[in-house]
Amino acid sequence: MQFIDVKGGGRTPVLGLGTARLRGRECTHAVRIALDLGYRHIDTAELYANEREIGEAIAASGVDRAEIFVTTKIWTSHFRAADAMQAAERSLRNLGTDYVDLLLMHYPNESVPLAETLGALAGLLDAGKARAIGASNFPTSLLEKAIAASPDLIACDQVRYHLGQDQGPLLAFARPRGIVIIAYSPLGVGSLAHLAVLKEIARKHGKNPGQIALRWLIEQDGVMAIPKAASQQHLQANIQGQCLAMGMWFSEREKNLFAGHLRRDFLSSRA
Ligand SMILES: NC(=O)c1ccc[n+]([C@@H]2O[C@H](COP(=O)([O-])OP(=O)(O)OC[C@H]3O[C@@H](n4cnc5c(N)ncnc54)[C@H](OP(=O)(O)O)[C@@H]3O)[C@@H](O)[C@H]2O)c1
Repeated sequence: MQFIDVKGGGRTPVLGLGTARLRGRECTHAVRIALDLGYRHIDTAELYANEREIGEAIAASGVDRAEIFVTTKIWTSHFRAADAMQAAERSLRNLGTDYVDLLLMHYPNESVPLAETLGALAGLLDAGKARAIGASNFPTSLLEKAIAASPDLIACDQVRYHLGQDQGPLLAFARPRGIVIIAYSPLGVGSLAHLAVLKEIARKHGKNPGQIALRWLIEQDGVMAIPKAASQQHLQANIQGQCLAMGMWFSEREKNLFAGHLRRDFLSSRA
């Protein structure tokens, strides 16, 4: 397993399980399988309405809570200080845990002063209810404001990032400041697996396209990825892809494809 250091959150597996759209028994089942397969990083949010199921799956798995990196997110309607504290407490109750490893502001909400929300999150950090604090869907300009309001607080920014989506400027800003980028929708919500060029590269390496797409992300400095998967087949492929021998480097041609054609291919496939 590959790890990355998250400010405050410690050594974190670079590949986590995304859980958006997983509900009820499907969610409990997928998280249990994931933990059995060796996943130790789970991403949820109050918005996903599945924290209770994730808590149940963790409790039933027998895996020590301390071994699992759990992220949740506060929704934008709870960004006033008192609401943020209540939302975090509710998430902890639902997850059946005393703390989360990472607590994120789910989306920017400029109608609430950033300093107010960050103040509440810093209080939760001090109280030991979150080990690290971060943002999600924050562009560079907003990260700058967050850093100005609370220097050293922001550990991560969770953003849409995959082979069809450039995040170069954000990465250039985040890396020197020790902010880890968490790539959400790393498989383009499943669509990347159907791209002809990716299928061709995957065939050449004897892998599946999803594994190549994830590998491309987690080989980058300061990047984690949280693919969602419900099926055992996908859960297994994704975690096995993470453990591909480090010798499987991409050729220059493939890197060029990743940097250019694939992005255009992806965009034109969505046009
Ligand atoms: N912060 C935010 O605003 C935000 C926004 C969106 C997402 N997220 C987080 O990021 C996570 C991942 O993003 P996402 O759910 O949008 O999309 P994604 O992870 O890019 O794609 C998930 C889809 O890909 C399929 N899949 C998984 N592994 C595969 C493989 N190896 N080969 C082919 N297909 C595969 C899944 O199928 P099955 O499920 O059928 O196995 C599912 O349909 C979310 O679950 C959530 O935790 C955060």
